Amino acid sequence: MTQPQATYYLKLRNNIELEDDVRLAKLELEAVTHCQAEDIKDLSSVTQAYPSLANLGGPWSLLEHRRGVGQQGFCFSGSLSLLPVLIRRLSFIQSISGVIHATCDVLAHFQALQNDHGPVVRAASFENGVVFVAIPHYALLELSEHIVSGSRSSKEVQDNLKGLLGSLNSTYAAEDTTASIFAPRQCTSHLSHDIHYYKAKFFPRLARCLINVGVENVPSRDHVVLDGFAGSGTALLEASLLGLPSIGVDIDPLSVLISEAKTGVLGLASSALANEVPRLRELAQRSWVGQPSFNWDMPWTNSLQAPTNESPERLVLPPWLLKNRNMTPEMVETISREVGALREVIAQSDPAIRPFVRVLVSDALSKRLRMRFMGTGVGRFALTFSARTAIQVFVRALERYVIVLASWEYLRDTLRLQPASTEVLEGDARSLPCLHRSPDVIVTSPPYLPSSSGRESYAQARVLSLIALGFRDKASVDNLVGESVGAMNGGAESSRGLTAREAGVVEFLRGDELRSIKAEPTARYFLDMRKAFAEMRRVLAPNGVAMVISGKQNTFYRFSTREPLFVVPAAEVLAEEAQFSGLKVEELRDVKLVKSNMNARPRSLDDYYETILFLRNVG
Ligand SMILES: C[S@@+](CC[C@H](N)C(=O)[O-])C[C@H]1O[C@@H](n2cnc3c(N)ncnc32)[C@H](O)[C@@H]1O
Repeated sequence: MTQPQATYYLKLRNNIELEDDVRLAKLELEAVTHCQAEDIKDLSSVTQAYPSLANLGGPWSLLEHRRGVGQQGFCFSGSLSLLPVLIRRLSFIQSISGVIHATCDVLAHFQALQNDHGPVVRAASFENGVVFVAIPHYALLELSEHIVSGSRSSKEVQDNLKGLLGSLNSTYAAEDTTASIFAPRQCTSHLSHDIHYYKAKFFPRLARCLINVGVENVPSRDHVVLDGFAGSGTALLEASLLGLPSIGVDIDPLSVLISEAKTGVLGLASSALANEVPRLRELAQRSWVGQPSFNWDMPWTNSLQAPTNESPERLVLPPWLLKNRNMTPEMVETISREVGALREVIAQSDPAIRPFVRVLVSDALSKRLRMRFMGTGVGRFALTFSARTAIQVFVRALERYVIVLASWEYLRDTLRLQPASTEVLEGDARSLPCLHRSPDVIVTSPPYLPSSSGRESYAQARVLSLIALGFRDKASVDNLVGESVGAMNGGAESSRGLTAREAGVVEFLRGDELRSIKAEPTARYFLDMRKAFAEMRRVLAPNGVAMVISGKQNTFYRFSTREPLFVVPAAEVLAEEAQFSGLKVEELRDVKLVKSNMNARPRSLDDYYETILFLRNVG
């Protein structure tokens, strides 16, 4: 039986600031529907044609909570059977409205849809058909971030989510209590996306959109997603939410732990966590007060003692950290007591939640002690301490996660979400570990050129967590810093084999007195990325696609006048490397970043762009 055809009107999320994101929204929409979409500049033109759409859906209806500037949405014609696909997959859309000029009983179809996808659709008859409005699941997941922030208990968060879903059936009034939820704020920390402070992570929406686009470009029934530079696991969580199994690889064991916790925590029951929280909170506070005072007879410059059950050995911090003038003896003592107390909490936590507790401890330490690396490449960094102790940050996060999990449980059960499994491996993207399944979609973001201004060393910035959690001792943390792609230190690398453009960059750096220190790491970076692309090609299924995100370009300025001296077209250089490895470069697409966003990389003077390299394994 042929499905009735509908005309769809999709309203963009009102928190989309940049037109490049609107273009990504269209790319995703056309990929998942295989239909051509038209832009809608003004949604009121739709409600003039179909007045009954104006009031349907309360705050979700077409005219409420639109983008303040620019384009408002998209329109296309397609089968009604696309509606569940749109609900489950779209990333940038606030609501989906539509009209069906059908004589058959399509209202029954909507009833069936509710059973499979939750109460996210409302339909009504009008003179010669049916109008409908639906909420994409992702809009709800994103908005849950604000609901969690405004709720004080598991019950309250679930009631509030219920209210938000129920608002679909209401008549919207401006003073509606849901209005504040729809304020156009950024959503990047919903569910467990903020489980750990992580600089330079993906915008979840971007990762999700690329996964959707990738999946549609590879004809297969069982897609597997790979991120070989998994970092905090953003792409892995998004794949899981879309019901796609994924594999993450990272050289940094802390990133592996974070990725595992980010995806794994959604499997914990909020009630189990709620039972543990009072005990862990009390333990943290008690053992903080009771921590033995630092022994000043020991040479303070290399000792940070934190005896615990978990790991009684002495902890040693690297001299480069202790040399910083903000790391006063008093501060070393304070931090050592906090670390000691938190290690006690880890040791006494229920093993079922211990990996999650470790990640929250690490997050608290990353927030307590922040390092911002300077662009000069000599490892100089600014060190600051937060006003709140690591204990306070940890306890607050623990309590918050009870509410996060309660919100997830409600949404998962109500929307019938079925997250897929994720596997995270500690390994090197330049020689990937054995993967048990062959990925056909890669979405990844390798470290940027070591010559980028202000680029931090990922491992170095997390040294306190790495050591406090007992991952590695000082010597191996130093090695890890050197092992990462893009590191400033590491073995000598000859420039032989570089492409002409790469050699030009390295020559420029060598000839610039203040930047010559970056010449060798930059040469090494290019050759490392060559190996990483070769590995992508080796493991990708035939015809599989890789979407690699890089900075578009790096500009070197004269320090005194800020006059541009040399521009490195970083994405084009990487595209050449990808091609060199046998991958087909299908497209380079620039995406502007919101400058004020703290996730965006270096503080640049100009507009800042990233480039998505669309690559394919053609054979
Ligand atoms: C830009 S971050 C990725 C962030 C990630 N997209 C996210 O959303 O959190 C780059 C990551 O590459 C990792 N990395 C560096 N060198 C690596 C290597 N040789 N193999 C695997 N991972 C590496 C770093 O540890 C870091 O976690």
